[in-house]
Amino acid sequence: CKCYILSLLLDLFSGYLGEDITLPSGADPSWSLIKIVWSIFTNNTWIATYRNGISTTEHFPQYSGRLTLNTTSGDLTIHSLKENDAIEYTVDLLNTDDEEKGNKIKLTVKQKLQQPSIKMVTSTSVESGCLMVVTCSSLDKGVNLSWSVEPVSVLTINKSNPSDSSAQLFAFVSTRESFANFTCISSRDTESVSSKPVTPKCESKICGKLLNVTLSLTYKRKILFSFLLCVQSSREQCK
Ligand SMILES: *[C@@H]1O[C@H](CO)[C@@H](O)[C@H](O)[C@H]1NC(C)=O
Ligand SMILES: *[C@@H]1O[C@H](CO)[C@@H](O)[C@H](O)[C@H]1NC(C)=O
Ligand SMILES: *[C@@H]1O[C@H](CO)[C@@H](O)[C@H](O)[C@H]1NC(C)=O
Ligand SMILES: *[C@@H]1O[C@H](CO)[C@@H](O)[C@H](O)[C@H]1NC(C)=O
Ligand SMILES: *[C@@H]1O[C@H](CO)[C@@H](O)[C@H](O)[C@H]1NC(C)=O
Ligand SMILES: *[C@@H]1O[C@H](CO)[C@@H](O)[C@H](O)[C@H]1NC(C)=O
Repeated sequence: CKCYILSLLLDLFSGYLGEDITLPSGADPSWSLIKIVWSIFTNNTWIATYRNGISTTEHFPQYSGRLTLNTTSGDLTIHSLKENDAIEYTVDLLNTDDEEKGNKIKLTVKQKLQQPSIKMVTSTSVESGCLMVVTCSSLDKGVNLSWSVEPVSVLTINKSNPSDSSAQLFAFVSTRESFANFTCISSRDTESVSSKPVTPKCESKICGKLLNVTLSLTYKRKILFSFLLCVQSSREQCK
């Protein structure tokens, strides 16, 4: 007698561009496989086969040198994933007891988030500290950018522009803190990646005094604007 076990489930798998992914055959571990056929397209173009004790993974040029077939489990590993590997895969199995099984897997290929980068816009030293403006940008679209600043006592205002995947950060580093360490984090769904941390030096110097530096976290935005005004007026006095 001949037995058929048909699996109508379509398994969804996703891998990352340039990385490897193993597509499971779904074979029962107790099975001893005598035939494995992995195919693609509706015309069942073979890509990897194991028949009569011979394993072949060089059927189709797109996968040349990029496939490993495990003849015990029937699992197929695709190495260094390409964008056009994102298609449907079919596997047909036959075991020593003449039992058959089929499985379909839909593979999606995602691009890993790229590391965002930080650029210094300006750093201006004043008597009581340094005003720093930094911009973070990512080559990826549709990511959320956020900042991590050390020490936490550094006063900051941030503004992000989701439309062009960039974010600005204004920070006032007081002489007491002496340095600030900025890291930008790019995230999308459950994935996230951090930029290299930057610890900028205060570059240009402005002569003159700050009139008031009673910065409070609650009124950050207003105080930084008044701080900028103060710097401009003291530059006038310098001449
Ligand atoms: C099967 O279909 C693919 C894509 O449609 C095509 O490139 C290939 O030549 C076809 N193979 C055969 C044997 O018809
Ligand atoms: C093939 O699959 C079996 C069963 O899952 C596993 O034990 C074995 O390590 C695999 N072989 C290789 C070369 O990965
Ligand atoms: C950036 O802005 C968001 C929303 O306004 C805020 O929740 C977050 O704490 C800010 N981050 C920093 C480092 O200031
Ligand atoms: C800046 O912060 C990062 C991440 O928190 C840390 O790995 C790095 O050592 C820090 N650099 C300095 C100079 O403090
Ligand atoms: C970005 O953040 C917002 C608010 O936290 C969230 O609703 C949205 O899903 C995030 N977008 C992505 C692509 O992670
Ligand atoms: C800071 O100085 C400016 C200019 O003299 C003044 O208008 C403003 O009220 C002062 N702010 C505080 C919080 O003292």
